[in-house]
Amino acid sequence: MRSVLSTLLSAAIAAQAVLASPIRARSPYSVKETHYAPREWTKLNRANGESLIELQIGLKQGNFDELERHLYEVSDPEHERYGKHLSAEAVDELVKPTKESSDLVHEWLRENGVEDLSYSSAKDWIIVRLPVEFVEHLLDTEYHNYKHEDGHVVARTTRWSLPRHLHAHIDTVQPTTSFFRTAANDATWVNAPAEVPASYQKPSNASIAAVCNVTSVTPECFATLYSTKWYKPQALKKNKVGFTNYLGEIPIRPDTEIFLKKYAPASVSSAKSFKQYSIDNGPVQDGPLTYNQSTVEGISREANLDVQAISGISKLTPITSYSTGGEPPFIPDPSTPTNTNEPYLAWVNWLLTQKSIPQVISTSYGEPEQSIPRSYAERVCKQFAQVGARGTTLFFSSGDHGIGGTDKCYSNDGKNTYKFIPNFPASCPFVTSVGATMNFQPEVAVYRASRNVSGVFRDFYAGGSGFSEYFTRPKYQDKVVPAYVKSLGGLYDGLYEKKGRAYPDLAAQGLYFAYVWNLTEGVISGTSASAPLSAGIFTLVNDALLASGKSPLGFLNPWLYSKGYKGLTDITNGTSHGCNVDGFPVTKGWDPVTGFGTPNFPDLVKLSGADCGW
Ligand SMILES: *[C@@H]1O[C@H](CO)[C@@H](O)[C@H](O)[C@H]1NC(C)=O
Ligand SMILES: *[C@@H]1O[C@H](CO)[C@@H](O)[C@H](O)[C@H]1NC(C)=O
Ligand SMILES: *[C@@H]1O[C@H](CO)[C@@H](O)[C@H](O)[C@H]1NC(C)=O
Ligand SMILES: *[C@@H]1O[C@H](CO)[C@@H](O)[C@H](O)[C@H]1NC(C)=O
Ligand SMILES: *[C@@H]1O[C@H](CO)[C@@H](O)[C@H](O)[C@H]1NC(C)=O
Ligand SMILES: *[C@@H]1O[C@H](CO)[C@@H](O)[C@H](O)[C@H]1NC(C)=O
Repeated sequence: MRSVLSTLLSAAIAAQAVLASPIRARSPYSVKETHYAPREWTKLNRANGESLIELQIGLKQGNFDELERHLYEVSDPEHERYGKHLSAEAVDELVKPTKESSDLVHEWLRENGVEDLSYSSAKDWIIVRLPVEFVEHLLDTEYHNYKHEDGHVVARTTRWSLPRHLHAHIDTVQPTTSFFRTAANDATWVNAPAEVPASYQKPSNASIAAVCNVTSVTPECFATLYSTKWYKPQALKKNKVGFTNYLGEIPIRPDTEIFLKKYAPASVSSAKSFKQYSIDNGPVQDGPLTYNQSTVEGISREANLDVQAISGISKLTPITSYSTGGEPPFIPDPSTPTNTNEPYLAWVNWLLTQKSIPQVISTSYGEPEQSIPRSYAERVCKQFAQVGARGTTLFFSSGDHGIGGTDKCYSNDGKNTYKFIPNFPASCPFVTSVGATMNFQPEVAVYRASRNVSGVFRDFYAGGSGFSEYFTRPKYQDKVVPAYVKSLGGLYDGLYEKKGRAYPDLAAQGLYFAYVWNLTEGVISGTSASAPLSAGIFTLVNDALLASGKSPLGFLNPWLYSKGYKGLTDITNGTSHGCNVDGFPVTKGWDPVTGFGTPNFPDLVKLSGADCGW
């Protein structure tokens, strides 16, 4: 998708030349978007004008409403088109921009001497590398460096403009106002010993008690607890499951081999056979972590957890790993030491160019919705709808800080008002959001209190929970979400968006997963664990469907909320925690902490309509 490195210099020179002449536009500029820098970011000096930026211009999609209609029809089990997923070409045809939009945007770029454009598969995104200084003219803006409280620096702006006649034809241009600081939803406290939760009760069921250890949960335990043990896969030639990596995370084969040898020996070949794709120079490797990787960067805990959670349960279903690089949208220089690409967009646009996509894909990353401008979150969410229309289920971890962490719950509108903080992409209505549980009989919403670990404050861990402020409640939630809100009797009114898309949709174990990292056994926690585990289990449901000659589940939520929920074990104990309050209570039926509950695999297979596999 990107122009090759060798064209960089000439592009930079060409753009410099263009700068000499004023920006051309057939109508005057006016502000297209403003967005506050979130509180975690401090504004520094002006960005280096010569740094290269990979500008992504999102053209208005031609007929997204129609795509959405198709998506809901093929995902609704009561509809005659259920399971008739769309081809890549059909999806592209629906979302490609109109000729008018495309012509006007190209005219503007051409008149300003912008060349070497690349495109997304539906040509609804134009991608081009330009020096910051040039982009400042093109968008009538100024870029500054902003520093996140974790030390990470990006060049962004809080306001940008377009010629007025283009406002209706361009949804978003990034990187401009998007203060993404994605994080792995991995609530691991390295060097802190696993502790038995205070609420833990020994399971009364002897087969569960025999294999489940609450401070080191293993594939054997999941297979027993969620009843996948008996199942023999029959569609290994057709079925696939994938997961995504960002922030330099790489799944490590030798670690995974040690893990599978010990905990799921029948699947040990998955350690060598999983496929790795590199997108935008995302890192891939076959060998162990190097000493520097382990000590200097400390990477691959998340990626190892993902590949191990999936391969531990999915019984040799082929696995695909996607590593999306972040650098460089800027050439690093002293004033911009690091930068990350807009992560999900680069990945999803690459994915949509592929003819064949795994039927299930898990992602364990996310961030506060309000750190991303609405227009951009909406577009990324629409690209997820396109993946769903093609028949793929997207699982996202719901986050690890309940309704928003401790002392962090403030609005990003310049007023710093106390309120709950929803997470994106978990808040996108076209993905399936996964919360976390712990204990076995009964399973309860996960919770571990804040504490200091080796002198460092570690915030509490509880599954991400909440209501979107960007996405309104999808129809499929109409039966359960208003009833839940009503049951609160006004509790927390004004602190969350009652009419928003509520999440998570379901939950799975998320505390103290046994895993291997840097050739060493350990445990790791997070909704980061729950999402790939759920992905592995639903992959087996797809196996039964494919073996029966049926379509895979695809975009899961319409099925889940109308039918599939009966195949989940309701969780009824706990609260969401966060924002210095107890948070949303877990209740009987759906709640925004554990969704409908945790998988009961045989019931899910029956409800899916698979007639094979028994
Ligand atoms: C719910 O959890 C609390 C504390 O975690 C515990 O005291 C209580 O017994 C639990 N109730 C049920 C019904 O499991
Ligand atoms: C114990 O759990 C296993 C696995 O979920 C299940 O098959 C079995 O029926 C349970 N036994 C009882 C007595 O509930
Ligand atoms: C449970 O796992 C822990 C490791 O976290 C281990 O020390 C302990 O011995 C295990 N308990 C049992 C009963 O196997
Ligand atoms: C490991 O990191 C150190 C410190 O950043 C660096 O000096 C060294 O060259 C690196 N070694 C390798 C083999 O990359
Ligand atoms: C990773 O393993 C190597 C080799 O055993 C060891 O030298 C290194 O200290 C380990 N890194 C960490 C962070 O534990
Ligand atoms: C963590 O340590 C700091 C400084 O020692 C202290 O102020 C704080 O209260 C501690 N927090 C917790 C949760 O123990």
